[in-house]
Amino acid sequence: PDPNQPLINPLNLVGPEMSNLTSNIRSLLGSGHPSLDTVAKYYVQSEGKHIRPLMVLLMAQATEVAPKVQGWEKVVEVPVNEGLAPPEVLNDKNPDMMNMRSGPLTKDGEIEGQTSNILASQRRLAEITEMIHAASLLHDDVIDASETRRNAPSGNQAFGNKMAILAGDFLLGRASVALARLRNPEVIELLATVIANLVEGEFMQLKNTVDDAIEATATQETFDYYLQKTYLKTASLIAKSCRASALLGGATPEVADAAYAYGRNLGLAFQIVDDMLDYTVSATDLGKPAGADLQLGLATAPALFAWKHHAELGPMIKRKFSDPGDVERARELVEKSDGLEKTRALAEEYAQKALDAIRTFPESPARKALEQLTDKVLTRSR
Ligand code: FPP
Ligand code: MG
Ligand code: MG
Repeated sequence: PDPNQPLINPLNLVGPEMSNLTSNIRSLLGSGHPSLDTVAKYYVQSEGKHIRPLMVLLMAQATEVAPKVQGWEKVVEVPVNEGLAPPEVLNDKNPDMMNMRSGPLTKDGEIEGQTSNILASQRRLAEITEMIHAASLLHDDVIDASETRRNAPSGNQAFGNKMAILAGDFLLGRASVALARLRNPEVIELLATVIANLVEGEFMQLKNTVDDAIEATATQETFDYYLQKTYLKTASLIAKSCRASALLGGATPEVADAAYAYGRNLGLAFQIVDDMLDYTVSATDLGKPAGADLQLGLATAPALFAWKHHAELGPMIKRKFSDPGDVERARELVEKSDGLEKTRALAEEYAQKALDAIRTFPESPARKALEQLTDKVLTRSR
């Protein structure tokens, strides 16, 4: 982005929507069981970065002024107003579920201070993306045996693995209910696919990338595997929710494709930066364990780039850094190689692609904010 351009504070664009996000999600998560209620809401707090909902809302605004499919205005009323009311039979004696039909959702009950035409369905989508994200964090911290997140005990640490897993499942269930009530089959398909993708990405990560032979160096195949895993575990949610946001606003197929491409590339950049920060930032600054990837046996971009110059990383990667001294030696090799710079350059490439993807959108403050987000993803430190 142009350094001479004034920075846009996204909260000037979607502040009211963002400030209602957490409380709306919490009302979607109400459970008659007090401990389930507590655990499910544990990762739904103001401490999160909320980058996914922010992107959904900015994408809603940026595509509002872009080309729409014909007849869109006539269709929009039905799913937003009627579709969200739950059939009586599903009001399963759970008082908090009732909140889903009222509150800040209906088009008539516009939220206070709202400055834009973001649709109720797009706001709900923003909430759904954060719910799926929170569920994946609950599960991820169990899998990674993490003890901290956001500078606090992780869900598994605070409540134990069983409750953390069940709370994650509950979040996915409620997210699915909210999704179904948007009454848009394509959007439902997109977000349901995201949930499957998260699992596929996590499975790819569990499985070693260099299975049979001890490769001499990182091949194109190694990087392709890493990037596909990264797409599935992180970029898919961002890409598909950006696309869904555009679709809910009646965007043309071209606009929806651009929204997807933006999210995919920004999501890849985001996770590649995450993998770099794991090497460069302290646990205190991250709010979660640092240097965790090698400890977990994971070779991410920095180690893969370092492997190109240090063949001894091959056997270590294959045995998932399990021999005494492996983790320390691998860290040393990454630091003295160009692995971290190459990783940053890779993230910059994807951030640039994200920028290019929305070039055809009409000029708007929201488009500008999305553009500036590509830079923020690169310069973030947590
Ligand atoms: C964080 O990665 C984790 C993810 C981006 C996705 C995790 C996905 C699952 C556990 C699959 C099952 C979950 C659901 C909801 C279907 P990380 O461990 O690299 O990041 P961290 O440092 O923040 O822990
Ligand atoms: Mg983790
Ligand atoms: Mg993980």
